[in-house]
Amino acid sequence: MPERKQRGAFIVIEGLDRSGKSTQVSLLEKRCKDAGLPVRLVKFPDRTTPIGKLIDSYLRSDSEMDDHAIHLLFSANRWELAPSIIESLNAGTTVICDRYAFSGIAFSAAKNKPTMSYEWCRAPDIYLPAPDITLFLDVSPEKARERGGYGAERYENAEMQERVEHVFERIGVEIGDGSRWFAVDADREKEAVAEELWERVQPYVKGTEKPLQRLWE
Ligand code: TMP
Ligand code: MG
Repeated sequence: MPERKQRGAFIVIEGLDRSGKSTQVSLLEKRCKDAGLPVRLVKFPDRTTPIGKLIDSYLRSDSEMDDHAIHLLFSANRWELAPSIIESLNAGTTVICDRYAFSGIAFSAAKNKPTMSYEWCRAPDIYLPAPDITLFLDVSPEKARERGGYGAERYENAEMQERVEHVFERIGVEIGDGSRWFAVDADREKEAVAEELWERVQPYVKGTEKPLQRLWE
């Protein structure tokens, strides 16, 4: 049998604000490095690109933008990085991604606009590279509050976060076939959460022969 080529795994971490996402992403990166695995961290929005700078200004409320337009910019920000993500994966590098298309759908659909249905919000991200696994850090509103409240950026308030969570739940049900989407209890100590994440990614981090899929295909 001809030897099939291994590629890196595409791991996405999603979660609400104050879920400990940034901490967990760095811990996971460190564990991969310590295990000698080539790893690259990607974060969305990537605020460094020209599109990312527009998004950054919007999130800081330095500028206003139509809700549809900002939604499409978030998606465009993923599309502009997609070729380099694919390149890294094909080179055998594990890509750990801090937020992805699921945040895109969740935050925009949570605005509850009649012209921004769940389906409409999902559409621009169709055919982006699909993660091998998505880990959703599930934090309770009580715990989020206990962790020091939200920051000053747009969307960082309890009411919005609650609506966002409901959309995330829907996404989880839609793609949660028992292997691709896991909700992880993020109310626990960070070490316990990190341990579970590490266990969950074990089937993937050493590389996979599975062809890279496209989102929602
Ligand atoms: P960050 O706090 O992880 O940098 O994300 C910035 C905010 O942008 C956060 O509230 C989630 C939101 N967001 C969207 O609205 N759409 C998207 O596509 C992404 C990736 C993030
Ligand atoms: Mg934030």
